[in-house]
Amino acid sequence: MNTRYSVFVLLLVLLACNTTQDTTMVKSEIIDKDVQFVEKLIADMTLEDKVGEMTQLTIDMVSVGAPYALQEPHTFDEEKLQNVLVDLKVGSILNCGGHAYTRDHWEKIIRTIQDYAVNKKESGIPVLYGIDAIHGTNYTTGATLFPQQLGQAATWNLDLAKACGEVTAYETRASGIPWTFSPVLDIGRDARWPRLWETYGEDMHLASELGVAYIDGLQGDDMSDAHKVASCMKHFLGYSVTLRGRDRTQAWIPERQLREYFLPTFQAAMDAGSKTIMINSGEMNGIPVHANSKILVDLLRDELGFTGLAVTDWEDVGYLVSRHKVAKDFKEAIKISINAGIDMAMVPTDASFPTILAELVNEGQVPMSRIDESVKRILLVKKELGLFDTPVVDFASYTDFASAKHEAKALMTAEESIVLVKNKENFLPLNAEKNILVVGPNADRLSAMNGGWTGTWQGDNPMYDTKGKLTVLAALKAKSQGKVSFAEADQAVNAAASADVIVACLGEGPYTEKPGDLDDLNLDEDQIELIKALKETGKPIVLVMLEGRPRVIRKIVDDAEAILVGFLPGDEGGKAIANVLYGDVNPSGKLPVTYPRFSNDIVTYDHKGTDKIDRKFGTDAFNPQWEFGYGLSYTQFSYSNLLVSPTSNGMHVSVTVTNDGAIKGKEVVQVYVQDLVATITPSAKRLRAFDKIELAPGSSRSLSFMISKEDLSFVGVDNKWVFEPGEFKVECGGLYKNLTL
Ligand code: BGC
Repeated sequence: MNTRYSVFVLLLVLLACNTTQDTTMVKSEIIDKDVQFVEKLIADMTLEDKVGEMTQLTIDMVSVGAPYALQEPHTFDEEKLQNVLVDLKVGSILNCGGHAYTRDHWEKIIRTIQDYAVNKKESGIPVLYGIDAIHGTNYTTGATLFPQQLGQAATWNLDLAKACGEVTAYETRASGIPWTFSPVLDIGRDARWPRLWETYGEDMHLASELGVAYIDGLQGDDMSDAHKVASCMKHFLGYSVTLRGRDRTQAWIPERQLREYFLPTFQAAMDAGSKTIMINSGEMNGIPVHANSKILVDLLRDELGFTGLAVTDWEDVGYLVSRHKVAKDFKEAIKISINAGIDMAMVPTDASFPTILAELVNEGQVPMSRIDESVKRILLVKKELGLFDTPVVDFASYTDFASAKHEAKALMTAEESIVLVKNKENFLPLNAEKNILVVGPNADRLSAMNGGWTGTWQGDNPMYDTKGKLTVLAALKAKSQGKVSFAEADQAVNAAASADVIVACLGEGPYTEKPGDLDDLNLDEDQIELIKALKETGKPIVLVMLEGRPRVIRKIVDDAEAILVGFLPGDEGGKAIANVLYGDVNPSGKLPVTYPRFSNDIVTYDHKGTDKIDRKFGTDAFNPQWEFGYGLSYTQFSYSNLLVSPTSNGMHVSVTVTNDGAIKGKEVVQVYVQDLVATITPSAKRLRAFDKIELAPGSSRSLSFMISKEDLSFVGVDNKWVFEPGEFKVECGGLYKNLTL
């Protein structure tokens, strides 16, 4: 390099350093300015203003009709608007009155609400509207609907998770709403739980990575951007694994497991800048989390340093009285939960909350400092979202709402979410000349692909299906030129006579939360019987499982030539499945949960040594139907050159992957590590790194991964993270290597 050139480069480097410094400074200056703005505002606020800010009511409370029984079409009640927004100064409203609205209606809703808050209320503080936009903007008619989180997890594709966040943010803001109660960061380790499909699956590493990518898509760097919204990590903490597998029943989770299994996803999301958090409705170790200051203050604030806003889950202050029975009345429940660290109460149907809270403050039962702390957090979110400057977005500017561009991303996500778990003698893809008989309860139902939080809470009202979207049956017909027919269960055996192949769409209907509680994880008996009867016809069967949790199908697995699993692939699921069945898409999904073989044997892939001992003291008792991470392709990948070497802070792993087949395909390269000896019983293995790559036929790629000692650590005897030196076994694509660190 000549001297002049090196001086020039040096100058560039210096300039670049300066710019970075400038950007950081600008960013921190903005944060300081926001804080100053909020502090100044608080100084002028009355106690009534403040407790109003801490209150969140459902839209039902300002609408015509009783809560849960609104008049149709949805209409506002002027008197209630005045009372709730102006007199009580309620700072946040949530959700819709029972079902999705058009964007035009959302515009009316948001304009009206912000008009009351900004123009009619004295303080002029805008309302923070929050909604469950869970897999796209599912409460706005016509919005782009992605796979649910478990389906997104099956893609193992961080770019797609981010894309889902971006599209959801865009379309939610396009509906005037700046805050979504998403993502679910509970870890999905119990297949019985009716919200399993709302999670990113059973593994902490996979779920953390996906959560971070999604939040990045939702929030970006600047939440005031007209295409971004605030995320809400939920449900903090320990919600997903109850003793009975039923929603909102008691959980017993020791501190070690809490820290090692349940905390990492939240920790990662906080580090990624998520601004709000929703609290777990359940009770853990005998204490409702909404009443537990050890979780809400000691852990969340003091230890993790979270500075954002903590909102309750639905009615959870009231439930401290009616369900949990730790408070004698609503007033005591408010006192307990606010003093335990709640900032905003999703009350959501009792407008007495702010008045009682003010009373508690006046009586000295809730300190004013506690109120100010919460109000500051709430107002900061409003400020960072830009609501003080733009309480109502320019609805006309969102020309990409439900665009072909967004639909293409949802379709790609749906396609990559489909997991091929069986393909005997390469039965799939199907030849276009074959006559296909489609059967099964989920063949012609969009709701079976979308699940809950779709149009309605339970997602079970076809009135709110997105118009023009294709079910599996419709998508197969659209591709097949007269080769596809459908038969109801009672006609299926007869109809099979003229078919070459039977495609049976089985699984579950839509549900979420309590209504989705289950008595038996086995697939419903009538579906098993349908397959047994069809098997008698001798015609080959392909199973398409559409489900929110892995329903046990052991009895029919051998009856099928091929099996696809779709964990709620969303509105594009029909097309995605048809594309996979006909081979236009090479499947690349991998299971984000271990698929159980027996309903009494729900074990995760990262089980302990004792989970492997069977009744006869053998060692093969970990015997799921299919393991976490499993999924086939229409091409074959081979792995070679697995090399592991120690580094100053962990290990370096490299491997070569080759596409040995005749078509291109995507492969998820998964690196697992087993800690061979540890003071806390080590897991059989743990996913420590992964990458999804695409390879043309015949081509190879070398990948390398750095795995740090921190990645290899666990929560030790004193409940603190620890790395213990020793021997580790690395596994990648069926190859193994040991090394000592
Ligand atoms: C659910 C939350 C949801 C909230 C608001 C609750 O019942 O547990 O996940 O965000 O309702 O709809």
